[in-house]
Amino acid sequence: MGSLSNTFESLYGCKPQVISEAPGRVNLIGEHIDFSDGFVLPYAIADRTHAAIAGRSDSQVRIASNQRKDHLFTIDIADVKPGSAGGWEKYVLGVIWSLNVKSGLDILIDGSVPVGAGLSSSAALECSVAVALNLLLDLNISLEELARATQRAENEYVGMPCGIMDQSVSLMAHAGSALLLDCRTLSTQQIPFNVAERGLELLVIDTQVHHALVDGGYAERRGSVESATEKLAVRSMRELSLEALDNARNDLTPEEYKRARHSVSEITRVHDAVEALEVSDFKKLGELISSSHDSLRDDYTVSCPELNCAVQTALNEGALGARMIGGGFGGSAIALIQARDLEKTRTAITDAFTEAGFKKPRFFTSLPSQGASARFFA
Ligand code: GLA
Repeated sequence: MGSLSNTFESLYGCKPQVISEAPGRVNLIGEHIDFSDGFVLPYAIADRTHAAIAGRSDSQVRIASNQRKDHLFTIDIADVKPGSAGGWEKYVLGVIWSLNVKSGLDILIDGSVPVGAGLSSSAALECSVAVALNLLLDLNISLEELARATQRAENEYVGMPCGIMDQSVSLMAHAGSALLLDCRTLSTQQIPFNVAERGLELLVIDTQVHHALVDGGYAERRGSVESATEKLAVRSMRELSLEALDNARNDLTPEEYKRARHSVSEITRVHDAVEALEVSDFKKLGELISSSHDSLRDDYTVSCPELNCAVQTALNEGALGARMIGGGFGGSAIALIQARDLEKTRTAITDAFTEAGFKKPRFFTSLPSQGASARFFA
């Protein structure tokens, strides 16, 4: 962290007091159901965002980023409330606001989670700030409460009606495991995900189609699920079975029915995926991953031609399963492949993208990594 603290010192004239880090995520399965009291199975990736923070004796909040060294954002703590100025800084301000901080701060961010790739760079940013403030200000807030606070920051300060998956996994992930998260209670179970041992690899394909969830169809899809929940008089999609949903089909618009069918079937797929992982049945896991994609493409309609092309090409090359991840409308897909097929899969996807006239995709692989942490800077 030499360079982060050096940049901090040259920018602010003092050393940081706390340095923290928080990862981005991929989601194995359980998409668009975190806001429906569903279960999800994401894991943290190696790419993370670092935050360096020091307290100030006045009421100024100053925020800078290693990625944009020319720009220093300054605001009085009294003005940190929804509707304030700020671009990306709002993710930081939102956390300061939701943790009810009352004194000035100097903050430097260094992010390496690709932005707009569906890998939760925003949650990584929020969580890096949240764990740093928790330590610096001795707030003693549990990880569950930090997840709720960072979600509130994004919902109410940034204006994106996201669920709680991204923040929870960034905070609670363990290396080597996927995180089974009950989005109602925030109780978790670490599910070992040892792909490498089996000669497998989880390939992440960034389509380079940048999604803007704040303006996109995310809220509209969530709205359909919520109106279906209301019409069916259930607390959430978790209370519904496919059978009950089919019986009530006439009470819903065709759109609400399809959105709800995705939610209900996806929750079942998550439980089935956990069972498959418990017996190391990666073939079954792959099938579930692919069915999740079909459901997101056809029922939830949040895929796009680039994501479909990446998924189909990976499957043609022998992937055990593939699907879009995250909010959709762009961003990334994952493919569970034989490690020996890595090169040929990447080449085939790149060729298919060129042929279709799409932007050149980017590829990542990442084993499940550790969640956020913070430490005093000695
Ligand atoms: C985005 C949101 C999450 C979740 C996913 C879809 O990443 O931030 O809360 O809803 O989309 O599963």
